[in-house]
Amino acid sequence: MSVTSSDSATYSGALEGSNAKRGLWSSRLAFILAATGSAVGLGNIWKFPYITGENGGGAFVLMYLICIAVVGIPIMMAEVMIGRRGGRSPVSSLRLITERDGLRPVWKLMGAVGILAGFLILSFYSVIGGWAVSYVGTAASGQLTGQSADAIGAIFSGLLSDPMTLLLWHSVFMALVMVVVARGVSSGLERAVTILMPALFVLLLIVVGYAMTSGGFGRAAAFLFQPDFSKLTTSGVLVALGHAFFTLSLGMAVMIAYGSYLPKDISIAKTSITVSIIDTGVALLAGMAIFPIVFANGLEPGAGPGLIFQTLPLAFGQMPMGSFFGTLFFVLLIFAAWTSGISLLEPIVEWLEEQKGMNRTVSTIGAGLVCWALGIASILSLNLWSDFAPLSFVPTLEGKTIFDLLDFFTANILLPLGGLLVAIFAGWVMSRQAVKKELALSPGAFRLWHGTLRFVTPVAVAAVFVYNLM
Ligand code: TRP
Repeated sequence: MSVTSSDSATYSGALEGSNAKRGLWSSRLAFILAATGSAVGLGNIWKFPYITGENGGGAFVLMYLICIAVVGIPIMMAEVMIGRRGGRSPVSSLRLITERDGLRPVWKLMGAVGILAGFLILSFYSVIGGWAVSYVGTAASGQLTGQSADAIGAIFSGLLSDPMTLLLWHSVFMALVMVVVARGVSSGLERAVTILMPALFVLLLIVVGYAMTSGGFGRAAAFLFQPDFSKLTTSGVLVALGHAFFTLSLGMAVMIAYGSYLPKDISIAKTSITVSIIDTGVALLAGMAIFPIVFANGLEPGAGPGLIFQTLPLAFGQMPMGSFFGTLFFVLLIFAAWTSGISLLEPIVEWLEEQKGMNRTVSTIGAGLVCWALGIASILSLNLWSDFAPLSFVPTLEGKTIFDLLDFFTANILLPLGGLLVAIFAGWVMSRQAVKKELALSPGAFRLWHGTLRFVTPVAVAAVFVYNLM
């Protein structure tokens, strides 16, 4: 199954040749920025706090950190490595690497998982992105100033109960994503990430600073960092694992695509670890901004997907220059979601271009419209269909709306499945020599990574799956 050493010489020659013809990231920093742009998004600021709240805090946070370290980082390294090795789009790279080993079904399955996950995630991601767009206006118009928690909650429920408004903002968000993808991801994006990501980080620090004075900080810190394992359920473990994939943009070949542009002399391990640390840092910061407000105002940590929209506006309504900071915050949140949204649509468009021979504009409009239309189901499940829980006969899925199901199915099933295939592919299928050369790690570090990827990652993913099916 594996490539012999003489084969691998010609093989790698061909692969490196193909790489040279494409543009490469201008530097290690450029790759880190692009990958961070994809990774840091609604997953960190919207999803992480609310699933932490729903799953009881500390023990869940610890589980999530373990999943990032044991599953996330090794798989990110594997994806970047596969991408750089193949030097082409994910589908072509996988085909190139597998075809000569007669393993075509593997890349086909991986491609299918990736494309499906991209469509489904972007459909509801854009709806949440739309909430952020809507809140720019809410904050800028001063509606949040001095409001009580109840009034802030009412603003949010008002938004959710109004399908046409949700549709409008979902359409705006989707259009933003489509415009950039249709033009081809440009260097402008790279420059924008350099400025706006650090700005988002600083703004989160400001909110954390404010939250420290709110009187709930001690309880929030205890909630987030003192694990109480009695609160961690089996499904909580699955959610933590799924979120490690979601937040790092793994399991959908995004990092394979980005890795194909990474210059050969750059360390895959260092860059992957850097991106993961930034991503995790933003999530923890968001948690420390939000939970003090939750506890200081007697709100419910397990409030669900609306959590940040019911807490942060309260802080912006109370702090000095709140309308300004609030507006800026939601603008930056849109930006973070935008760069992530682009990385969800881009692989689909690239695939349509390559496999179906469609041009970029047509494929962007086609794929974008499909996501947009799918998003309508998520919008309706927030209001008209809020009682419609089609899979309630499955115990874990009881009471989940279409929106909840899309989130659950993509993050907790599809992405880990995609990641499992990546782990098997990089750990068992690809030639050890080729992998070793690409990663250029010290022998000890290589063995640690390879062993983790071959044994720990697949077993962890499989175990969590099996447990949850039972
Ligand atoms: N990581 C992004 C976030 O946390 C979401 C995302 C973008 C994503 N691209 C992805 C998730 C690819 C899975 C796969 O918001």
